[in-house]
Amino acid sequence: MKILKVLFLVIVSTIITQASFAQNPEITATINADQGEYQISKHIYGHFAEHLGRCIYGGFYVGEDNELIPNTDGVRTDVIEALKELKIPNLRWPGGCFADTYHWKDGVGPQEDRPTIVNQWWGGVTEDNSFGTHNFLNMCEELGAEPYLSANVGSGTVKEFADWIQYVNHDGVSPMADYRKENGREEPWDVKYWGIGNEAWGCGGHMTAEYYANIYKQYVTFMSDWNNSSGIYRIASGASGGDYHWTEVLMRDIPSNMLDGVALHHYSVIDWSAKGPAVGFDESQYFATMTEALKMEEFVRRHSTIMDQYDPGNRVALIVDEWGGWYNVEDGTNPGFLYQQNTIRDAMIAGVTLNIFNNHARRVKMANLAQTINVLQAVILTDEEKMLLTPTYHVMKMYNVHQDATLLPVDFENVDYTMDGKSLPAVSISASRDAQGKVHISLVNIDMNSNHSVSLNVRGVEYKNAAGTILTSDDIQDHNTFEAPESVTPEEFDEFKVSKGVLNVDLPPFSVVVLELN
Ligand code: AHR
Repeated sequence: MKILKVLFLVIVSTIITQASFAQNPEITATINADQGEYQISKHIYGHFAEHLGRCIYGGFYVGEDNELIPNTDGVRTDVIEALKELKIPNLRWPGGCFADTYHWKDGVGPQEDRPTIVNQWWGGVTEDNSFGTHNFLNMCEELGAEPYLSANVGSGTVKEFADWIQYVNHDGVSPMADYRKENGREEPWDVKYWGIGNEAWGCGGHMTAEYYANIYKQYVTFMSDWNNSSGIYRIASGASGGDYHWTEVLMRDIPSNMLDGVALHHYSVIDWSAKGPAVGFDESQYFATMTEALKMEEFVRRHSTIMDQYDPGNRVALIVDEWGGWYNVEDGTNPGFLYQQNTIRDAMIAGVTLNIFNNHARRVKMANLAQTINVLQAVILTDEEKMLLTPTYHVMKMYNVHQDATLLPVDFENVDYTMDGKSLPAVSISASRDAQGKVHISLVNIDMNSNHSVSLNVRGVEYKNAAGTILTSDDIQDHNTFEAPESVTPEEFDEFKVSKGVLNVDLPPFSVVVLELN
């Protein structure tokens, strides 16, 4: 009798499970895995490290003489390991707004000769310039990340900029190469990526687009690649959000042989005068944050349209070199340090934004999350010797399977996440095929209240099953703390079923899922 009862329960539960996957999925998506034209540049998964708060000092760099925190040439060993795991492809430095106040020569040579600098943008703190060009570029070598140097246009000179390039890239006899060797580095670093100023419309000098386009041409005229093996890649300071005039003017006024990338900055901030807390937000604040995050789709699409008009050959890239969530700072911290916690909401921002970049891989060739450690939507938080990985870190790691893979277009009709009569697309999807032929699909359900079922019709590839990873939690406010650093971590995901070439997935509320077909 007992056996019959167990059998009955097994049959009923199997029927229920199958029914929940088979019955009218809300979304039917088609992926043609044997197609795909564009490569998802690994550089879309880039990061940003500014001299701001505890990003550089205390975050990356704790000093060569630090006996409490294990380090390699002053850079935290735990941070190096975590970023290598992430497959960090590039790192932008030294700003941000700070870049337009930074004079690189103050940060090379013997420490005792280095002047101090007051960080006028961020907290007014005095820095001793102990972390400079050598520290940054050697650290990038250790990380296996391409450096992306942001040059001082706002308060620097053309000569200072040209000298910096010669210092880091010239292989031979020259004033700056000799100076580099004097400072202990024989070989050049071959820096490819260069930003010509930052937010020239704001902290970079409050310029008009027309004025900046002229300044840009002046600076670029005196750039040389010094025959370095990687060449040189010139990125113009770009628009904020929907400032399409900025992009139009740069594309119109700068000859395309002087330009490789045009930047774009967009932060998911509810209201600059009422940003709301990083933890303890309500649903309307969550909805507003996601509304801002999803605007990235429109910004990328419309800036790309302008670029298509002036550059139909798709030579110049859109470089989203600052993005992420921006909230009130944590209580008791310096308001100029932009230190904020990181919850499942941030995982949602990361998931949808990276899907947008993947899906626009034709034009978006690089992006940089703001910022790597202890600032804004950080992937790592530190407290003296303690370190934790945020939900955003975990999403970026789950998504690194897309790096340099071929983008597979996904077609589907979305469903809505509604709140107070307003609606947002609930589900976000991107897919790619890597060099080994493996297909990966990343899905995000931003809906705070409902599951959503997706039926993925994957054509053009043989597969029998899938393996899945999910990042979610019981509460959207959940986050990692130094006392409980593993509260939010990815887990194995099995709420899917493969049947006759169709993959039916059930996405829980506020979840990010990555599937690998096999
Ligand atoms: O990332 C923080 C700041 O935001 C950067 O310094 C600046 O470029 C932007 O306004």
